[in-house]
Amino acid sequence: MSEYIIQIDHVNKSFEKGSRTKDGTLREGVKVLDDVNINIKKGEFVTFLGPSGCGKTTLLRLIAGFLQPDEGRILMDGKDITNVPPYQRPLNTVFQRYALFPHLDVYDNIAFGLKLKGGMTEKEIDQRVRKVLKMVSMTDYEDRDVDSLSGGQQQRVAIARALVNQPKVLLLDEPLAALDLKMRKDMQIELKEMHQKLGITFIYVTHDQEEALTLSDTIVVIDEGRIQQIGKPKDIYDEPVNAFVANFIGESNILDGTMIEDKKVRFIDKEFDCVDEGFGENTPVDIVIRPEDIYITKKLEVAQFLGTVKSCTFKGVHYEMFVDTDDGYELMIQDYNAFDVGSKIGMIIKPTDIQVMHKFGKNIYEEKEYACNEIELLDNKEDGDLHGKIRSIIYKGNHYHIEVQTSDRKIFYVDTQEIWDKGDMVGIKFLNK
Ligand SMILES: Nc1ncnc2c1ncn2[C@@H]1O[C@H](COP(=O)(O)OP(=O)(O)OP(=O)(O)O)[C@@H](O)[C@H]1O
Ligand SMILES: [Mg+2]
Repeated sequence: MSEYIIQIDHVNKSFEKGSRTKDGTLREGVKVLDDVNINIKKGEFVTFLGPSGCGKTTLLRLIAGFLQPDEGRILMDGKDITNVPPYQRPLNTVFQRYALFPHLDVYDNIAFGLKLKGGMTEKEIDQRVRKVLKMVSMTDYEDRDVDSLSGGQQQRVAIARALVNQPKVLLLDEPLAALDLKMRKDMQIELKEMHQKLGITFIYVTHDQEEALTLSDTIVVIDEGRIQQIGKPKDIYDEPVNAFVANFIGESNILDGTMIEDKKVRFIDKEFDCVDEGFGENTPVDIVIRPEDIYITKKLEVAQFLGTVKSCTFKGVHYEMFVDTDDGYELMIQDYNAFDVGSKIGMIIKPTDIQVMHKFGKNIYEEKEYACNEIELLDNKEDGDLHGKIRSIIYKGNHYHIEVQTSDRKIFYVDTQEIWDKGDMVGIKFLNK
């Protein structure tokens, strides 16, 4: 038997040009999933994490069987299930919107599927329903109308309704998104406990990185239908493979750098020892430093570089400071001690805390390559050679790194001092043509 319960094998999916969105506008033909490969172990808690529109729900619907891939296969226990209809797959889905039957009470909502399927006695059904009611802590609510329940309680019923079928895999599509923060935190803990008790595989979808870090054994980070990284929460946090992942997972300082040679890197106008090798010599790279990994010292003579504290805010456990280095870069630092605004400080970064990453993406227009500072963004989209929408903005200590996407889904990377907003429509002008 296969070690994996679910395997997603070279899956591609496009939606046809001309289909309509909810508000009736015509969609462009788009590739929503691009060569997706994932192996999910039995009993694992796996989370698909990525921004809105990256393809998470589409991937879940493919696993559930509500959609077919254009290319590639879905395997379960090593067997190809690509053409098996949803109701014959031993899995159940919990959706973001609860989709409960409003005219049935809690008990009947949960029992409904089992009664419909047939083949079970009243007593067997009753035993199963009571067991899952207990599991989701809703035993006292069995006679209640679902309309009279809170959002969190309704979602518990939805989970119970999925679990009563005893699926091998539970698919959860942003099941907590509609709940307030406190309820969401409580439900996260309950879901984690439920997963441990049941021992079945959970495949969970969210765009909330904190939720993914809290819940998962494995996180799959997705952007634009492509897998960016698969790993344990700690590995993804400590060693993101690119600036997208670093920016998406938690707070960090993302900076331009140059790998001078093995174990030697330059950024913020200083040279640092690091532990990375194999990038070649004088190679442009991205650097990630987590805010808790920059040490502050009052002994300026032992520091690697100096700066001035610009702001200092207490965040409950630690202080968060913004510091201007003497060379003109802004860094975010977290420390258990507060340092006075305006005071001069020294800073130290350990070699193991410097994360070096390959830069990703090139700007190619009319067969010529452009550096990130050879592209200008314009307010008026008609004024550019092309136009597009701003998809992401990363602050790099002294400038912004912006990703702009054209309507045919080409992405250009632009470095600028100007402030733009995500979602802005802009003209894209290539300089030095
Ligand atoms: N039936 C469809 N026809 C055409 N395009 C679709 C269809 N379903 C989804 N899409 C498009 O596919 C892309 C991915 O959608 P999907 O719902 O998988 O994203 P998501 O990651 O779940 O986003 P969210 O976090 O907002 O739920 C989007 O651009 C969406 O507009
Ligand atoms: Mg979705």
